[in-house]
Formats: sequence, structure tokens, C-alpha cells
Amino acid sequence: MRNETVRGVTLSYHESGAGPSVVFVHGFPLDARMWEQQIAYFSRRFRVIAPDLRGFGRSASVEPFSMVSLADDIQALLAKTTALPCVLCGLSMGGYVALAFAKKYPGDLRGLVLVDTRAEADSAEGKANRNRMIELVRTAGSKAVSGQMLPSLLSQKTLQSHPHIVEKIRQMTECCPPRTIENALIALRDREDQTCSIASIAVPTLILVGEHDQITPPDLSHAMHSTIPRSILEIIADAGHMAPLENPEEFNPRLERFLDWVG
Ligand code: MLT
Repeated sequence: MRNETVRGVTLSYHESGAGPSVVFVHGFPLDARMWEQQIAYFSRRFRVIAPDLRGFGRSASVEPFSMVSLADDIQALLAKTTALPCVLCGLSMGGYVALAFAKKYPGDLRGLVLVDTRAEADSAEGKANRNRMIELVRTAGSKAVSGQMLPSLLSQKTLQSHPHIVEKIRQMTECCPPRTIENALIALRDREDQTCSIASIAVPTLILVGEHDQITPPDLSHAMHSTIPRSILEIIADAGHMAPLENPEEFNPRLERFLDWVG
């Protein structure tokens, strides 16, 4: 992992390969390790960058953040490392960051990839769940949050037949500092609704979703696809909310086809 200081934080990021830049932004409460299979696959042909967002993984920080400020961090990192314009690929929370990036820095994108994510803000019930989770992390720590989230992140097939994937997610979520989990839950709860603004996304956009995603179900991806003008939708079989880890055999070639199309 490399380090670069931008906007008052030292961001740790993976970088490998050469060619057009492809940037992978992780979900909550994970880190860049979730993209290991994509890093290995795509760095054969592309310059692959996968940062740990502030507070996550090795990017230590206790400062509060928002989806927009996380997008500002990524833009500053990519500007400093001369990796712009790029194709930006974000999963779930990483997708919310990618949408904030697309709104604020449209000229820095060659393409957008939205994985297991949604354009909607949290509903009143969703916000109440975030508040309950904030209470849980304050009183019982990261392990309790990990235990509660894990079953809904993965498909039944992954939970039953792929213990190494379950273990990998467990390790990442349990390692995430409680303070970061709390900061992220606040930022997730308070994030902007993007259901109207996504109609202005002008770059080619690939939307990918696991067929069994319970957190951001395929209906939400269909809704984004019907609003984003130049979008393609692909459903990943045998996968839940962690499609790139659960079924890289389907995920990677579909993303590669898109990257070839974007050029
Ligand atoms: C994620 O995977 O990043 C989170 O589940 C996103 C969310 O809870 O909205």
C-alpha cells in the first residue's frame, strides 16, 4: 500500500498496473482489501487504484465526514497521483461516494460503475436503523456491528458454501474502528438523495447488482438504469450485496467489457 496526504489526511491506497485509470471505492465498513480479485484481474491491462477511505483500513482518521467530503478526498488523491480522468467504480457506500463525485467532478470521469448501491437517501425507517446501529457500536463495539451485518451482506450460497469469503468480510468489518463506524453511519444516514440528479450523468455508466442483494435489491438498480441516460444494467448470479467478492467469475468479465467499450 502507498500513502499520500491530501486535505489533512494520509490516505493509504493500493496501486498497480499501467494504462487507463480504474479506481475502486469500497463499501461500509470495509476497506480496499475487498477488491483483491479485481486488483489482480484488472491490473494486467489498467492502472488500478483502490484507496482506503478516511478512517477505514490503514487511512487512520477520527474526523467526521460526508459522502461529498469522501468524494473530495478521492478527487484530491487522484489529482495528486495524476490518475484523472478515470473510470470510478464504487460498491454500496462507495457507490454513494461515486455518485457524489459524478455530481461534483463530472469532467474527471471517463465512466462510472455503480455496484450494489442506490440513488435514494435513507427512508425514515432507514435513519432509525442507523441510529440503533450507532447505539450498538457505542455500547458493544465493532464486533457486534459485524455480527449483525454479516448475514445480510452475503447470499445464502456464499454463507453456506464459501467460508473463506465470510471470514474475509468478518475480519474487515471487525477491524473497522468503532469511531469510523459511527462517523460512517452518520454520513450514510444524512446523505443526499440523488434520484433526480443522476439523470444528468453524461458518462457511460455500468450498474451491477447481485441477484440476491438484500441491502440494495435489484429493483433499485433497475430504477437507476431507467434514469441514467447512457447506462447498462447487469445482474450478477449467485451473489448478494458483495457481488465482486461472491462471484468474480461473472463480475470481472462484465466490468472488463464495459472498460473496453469506454476505451
Ligand atoms: C455498504 O455496503 O456500504 C452499506 O451497506 C451501505 C448502506 O448501508 O447503505
